[in-house]
Formats: sequence, C-alpha cells, structure tokens
Amino acid sequence: MSGFIIAVDGPAASGKGTVAGGLARENGLPYLDTGLLYRAVGVLSQREGIDLDDVEAVARVAQRLRAEVLGDEAFRTRGAGEAASRVGVHVPVRQALLAFQRDFAAQPGGAVLDGRDIGTVITPDAPAKLFVTASPEVRAERRRRQLAGQGEAVSFEDVLADIRKRDARDSGRDAAPLTRAADAVLLDTSEMTIEQAADAARRIVEAARARWEGSRQG
Ligand code: C5P
Repeated sequence: MSGFIIAVDGPAASGKGTVAGGLARENGLPYLDTGLLYRAVGVLSQREGIDLDDVEAVARVAQRLRAEVLGDEAFRTRGAGEAASRVGVHVPVRQALLAFQRDFAAQPGGAVLDGRDIGTVITPDAPAKLFVTASPEVRAERRRRQLAGQGEAVSFEDVLADIRKRDARDSGRDAAPLTRAADAVLLDTSEMTIEQAADAARRIVEAARARWEGSRQG
C-alpha cells in the first residue's frame, strides 16, 4: 500500500509550486518540483550543444539525469523554462523521466509532486489531486516579479507572450498534455493572496486525507 500522495498540476506561474511546497511542509512529506527535471534536461542539453529538437540526443541526457544536479540556479531562468517546454514535447524524454518521478512518489510515507501530468500520468491513483490555475495576466505579473527578484528584468508584455506560448505548447502537445484530471479539485488563485491559496489547498487536502484514511479502514 503506497503512502499519501498529493498531485499538484497547473500551468506556468499558477502558484502551484508555492501551494505544493506549503502542503509538503504541513504534511511532513518530501516534495518534488518535476518542472525542474525538464528544465535540467533542457539546459544540460543546450550546454552540450544538442539541438532541442534532436529527440534521441535529448532523451539520452534525460536518462543520465541525477538528482544531485537539480540545485543549479541556471534551471530557474526564463530561458530554462522555454527549453523545458521544448524538451517536454518528446515522448522518449518523458519516458526517461517517468521512473524517477514514480520512485519519488512511492516513498513509504507518501510525497508531494507538482507538474503538468502528475494526476493524469505519473500518479493517476493519488488520493489528493489539485489543479492550480490563474488567469494568464495574473500569472504573467507573478512571473515578472519573480524574475525581477532573481535579477532578470523582463517587461510584462514579454512575460505574458511567453506564458501564452507555453500554455499553447503544454496543452496542445500529444504526449501527456496539460489537462485537469477528472478527479482533480480546481483551485483558481487569480483573486487570491498566497495565504488564501495555501488555506484553500490545505482544506482540499484535509478532505482528501479523511476520505483516504476512511477507505483504508473500510
Ligand atoms: O513548472 P515549470 O514552469 O518549471 O515547467 C517547465 C516546463 O516543463 C513546462 O512548461 C512543461 O513544458 C514542462 N513540464 C512538463 N511536465 C511536468 C513538468 C514540467 O512537461 N510534469
């Protein structure tokens, strides 16, 4: 019997990382930001001079990926997000990263994972699923502020164009497109502060945990 898995999906800059990190702390669970895996594959491929459309070469980088390298700040830039979204369309890349994510989720006590296909593909049986979203404009302003905080000054219009392009690519791809699982609870954070989003997420997860514990006893 696996532990309590919390699957958090949603588009770029929806607040899912903040929500997922908070849930992990509150529930005492390990947390994996799966976007970081795709970002790492994109950036490491570029460093090796690999064309991001070269499916086989990029998949080999994904196969070699080790958890120890994930702390690199270079994976958090705007360019890394774009590279991630380009390598994420390749089926062999997604397959190469599948075992890593499922192993992480299978830890005995449970885990929190966030991404695009956690509730649909990686852990479809997760007892708690959230789909975190917000309007493109709200997400663009949040991402603009985050990038500015990292010393990367980008205009609102440019960030909004990035967000729309990424949404279209992530939702329109054939392989594990961004889509809400039928049993995921929708959390629209457009009008919420970070605290309000965290409170709403906590309530969703508490209800899911009560159902999960009930089903294990029965
Ligand atoms: O969440 P983040 O913005 O870091 O993700 C970067 C990109 O990685 C996404 O736009 C998406 O294309 C890809 N990704 C994915 N599947 C995941 C996580 C991220 O395809 N589970």
